[in-house]
Amino acid sequence: MQTSKTYGEFCEIVYSGPCAVVIFGASGDLTKRKLLPALFNLFITRRVPKNFYILGYARTILNDLEYRKIVKESLKKSNASDEVKEEFMNHIFYKSGSYDASWDYVSLKSRLEELNLKFQTQGNIIYNLSVPPNLYMPITRELGENGLVKYGQNSDPFQRIVIEKPFGRDLTTSEELSSVLHKYVSRSQTYRIDHYLGKDTVQNIFVFRFANSLFEPVWNRNEIDHVQITVAEDLGIGSRAGYFENSGQIRDMLQNHMLQLLAFVAMEPPTSFEEDSVRDEVAKVFKAIRPYDLENLDKSLVLGQYSEGEVSGEEVISYTSEKGVLNNSLTETYFATKMFIDNWRWQGVPFYLRCGKRMNSKESKISIVFKKTPQSLFKAFGIKESFQNVLTFNIHPEQGVKLTVQEKIPNAKMCIGTIEMNFNYQQEFGANSQADYDSLLLDCMLGDQTLFWRGDGVNLSWKLLTPVLDYLDIRKNREKMVFPYIAGSSGPIQADELLTVDGRSWL
Ligand code: BG6
Repeated sequence: MQTSKTYGEFCEIVYSGPCAVVIFGASGDLTKRKLLPALFNLFITRRVPKNFYILGYARTILNDLEYRKIVKESLKKSNASDEVKEEFMNHIFYKSGSYDASWDYVSLKSRLEELNLKFQTQGNIIYNLSVPPNLYMPITRELGENGLVKYGQNSDPFQRIVIEKPFGRDLTTSEELSSVLHKYVSRSQTYRIDHYLGKDTVQNIFVFRFANSLFEPVWNRNEIDHVQITVAEDLGIGSRAGYFENSGQIRDMLQNHMLQLLAFVAMEPPTSFEEDSVRDEVAKVFKAIRPYDLENLDKSLVLGQYSEGEVSGEEVISYTSEKGVLNNSLTETYFATKMFIDNWRWQGVPFYLRCGKRMNSKESKISIVFKKTPQSLFKAFGIKESFQNVLTFNIHPEQGVKLTVQEKIPNAKMCIGTIEMNFNYQQEFGANSQADYDSLLLDCMLGDQTLFWRGDGVNLSWKLLTPVLDYLDIRKNREKMVFPYIAGSSGPIQADELLTVDGRSWL
């Protein structure tokens, strides 16, 4: 789309002050794939100062030099110069220790004191818990008991904890987790991270809706027919069977990323772009989602599991043949669901969400489908159906916003075609945005919780899903609900039914 660029005064880059980041789970997959590249990105763009260091902590016995090799490996996709990478390495340290033994935290504390002095970080520390969820409680307890975090210490210096999803595995465990965390760290020190909220394309939903006046008046049940949210991945579960077998796609994606996407589309305008104003509105959406009717669950939820197939020209094995997966596993690698939001704005508008692994391609998008034109004015010219505009937020891999509209095709008497008005990040800014963890880690350094989950939001999301998960804990229920789909396809055909009964189809 031809655009004229007027960027606002807040386009300037923000910078963190001095601080240290301690990564628990320093050699884990998430750390290598996401955290270290994100922190490196902050480093090379100078959004963290020279008074900054990273201390990796894990059970594996390594020294600083050995850990730096791991870090270097995790940066191999970056085309930054070796010199800059070396410079970054001077800020990387490692300490081995167990996660639940006090004496290891005593020595962690003295290592941190020594490094804080060396880097003049003024005692500001972020503890990033990139570990299996059963370790969140012991780590927080040991940090608290051994004086590495003090309840309420959120400035001069700050001590903050970043925890990864899953935040519990149901309502009871999430409440329990919050209550243990909050024995040692206050709410303002607790950062529950959801990397989808760090994506520019997701934050753009918020901007698109609330920085323009054009869309809000039509953003409701009077003009919108339905909403579709798709998050498809071509990857399988890789080496994460241990985690995924206990989680499944509902816990892995629906409870967190997908519900946040839904909330960004559905929320009321907050009174300001401030932490609690935004998170209050998110919580209100979760409160208003209609509970699942367990007696008729198959009318609103379809689950799937991939069987062998072909993805991008390569043969891939079935889920049950993946290493670490039981051969009779019924864990879902796909779900499609229909939700309603029982409030004034959205009454009667279905939200269809689907999300799967080993699909035909990686694609995340949200489509807002508007109501049909009331009359087909151009019937005489062969346009039979009345038309529905679709506004699509492309999150990945394509990034941007598209609106389909009907336009007159040149020269013909009255030939009408559907065209796309297209804003694309790549075209507009020369490159796709890569942001997710980096922007959130920076927010944490700056003490901004707006784009982090608040405890009540987490509990509300579990309140919605726990009855369903309990129901699915019974194997015979799961047997009825989980359908196979061929890897590389678009999921089980049963998922189409959720829409066809309503006279609609997936886009
Ligand atoms: C993670 C899930 O939170 O998000 C993974 O645990 C999933 O299973 C990933 O693959 C998807 O993230 P993205 O940013 O690649 O869409």
